Amino acid sequence: MKLPQLKIGDLIAKIPIVQGGMAIRISTGLLAGAVAAEGGVGVIGASGMAFDELSNEIRIAREKANGGIVGINVMYAAREFLGIVQTAIKEKIDLIVTGAGFSRDIFKIGKTSNTPIVPIVSSAKLASTAEKSGAAAVVVEGKEAGGHLGTNRSIRDIIPEVRSAVKIPVIAAGGLVEGKDICEMFKMGANGVQIATRFVLSDECNASIEYKRAYQNAKKEDVVIISSPVGMPGRAIRTEFVDKILKKIAPKPMGCDFCLKRCSLEYCIIQALINSQQGDVVNGIVFSGENVWKIKDRSIRPVKKIIEEILKEIEEVCPN
Ligand SMILES: Cc1cc2nc3c(=O)[nH]c(=O)nc-3n(C[C@H](O)[C@H](O)[C@H](O)COP(=O)(O)O)c2cc1C
Repeated sequence: MKLPQLKIGDLIAKIPIVQGGMAIRISTGLLAGAVAAEGGVGVIGASGMAFDELSNEIRIAREKANGGIVGINVMYAAREFLGIVQTAIKEKIDLIVTGAGFSRDIFKIGKTSNTPIVPIVSSAKLASTAEKSGAAAVVVEGKEAGGHLGTNRSIRDIIPEVRSAVKIPVIAAGGLVEGKDICEMFKMGANGVQIATRFVLSDECNASIEYKRAYQNAKKEDVVIISSPVGMPGRAIRTEFVDKILKKIAPKPMGCDFCLKRCSLEYCIIQALINSQQGDVVNGIVFSGENVWKIKDRSIRPVKKIIEEILKEIEEVCPN
């Protein structure tokens, strides 16, 4: 199957693969730039970054991207949501993906700077609201995704509904780890796919080696749903800290800088994500998609190789 190009506003990605944004500092400039250089859309997970840090990561991505498309992902739940958006626009980011909710204000900001806004949605209703508000495309995330989840329905059930509800490009996300999953999404009417989990096992991903090992060793039963203080469920690989969350004995935050608009303060999710990104997975959370255990080759290799493999798998499984 020859994959179509992905058009978002005036941007054209040669390969219709968006690399899912991953906080905290899992997808930084190096990963986003490498995906963009291969013709996909590279996305920096900007939530939790300081503004000057984000500017720097965007510059790193640009240097590597060879003119390819670079975006940021920011969670609406972050208190610094607007500041991050403004910083990215100042750096002339190509597009902004908003996760965990969106506000109508964001579309006005995008219109003024001519920056395509791509919200992540999990229902046809929200996709339609996003389209009417001015979204350039939507990422549709099913329950199979990693990180915070907006639904318990499968991507396979949601995509056909969204396809008939909107005309803007539809990008399918969640658990798409094999070529055949990706083919299926295009056959259901998707214009592109967003993949995160498979890119964690790349040289360019900024996660610690311990984080990547958790991906390499994960079995089906190790991938669990936790309750996040953000007020949403989240999908992660079991660690000692995750087991404490499941038993409701995770330590309460020592201090708090109120980085989230709303937080139950049950435990500090940001600190737990930072811990694992830096190598302390015992005291951390390792977010991952549902199908991490299905990835056939879990060696760590360059993004270029991962994308070549995905395209080869698609050719083999979906010849036309
Ligand atoms: C480690 C990790 C961190 C993530 N962080 C974010 C995030 O900061 N914001 C967001 O909107 N989605 C986040 N996601 C969701 C992904 O961007 C993506 O949509 C989803 O995981 C796709 O499914 P897959 O991982 O099975 O490919 C994260 C996913 C993972 C695996």
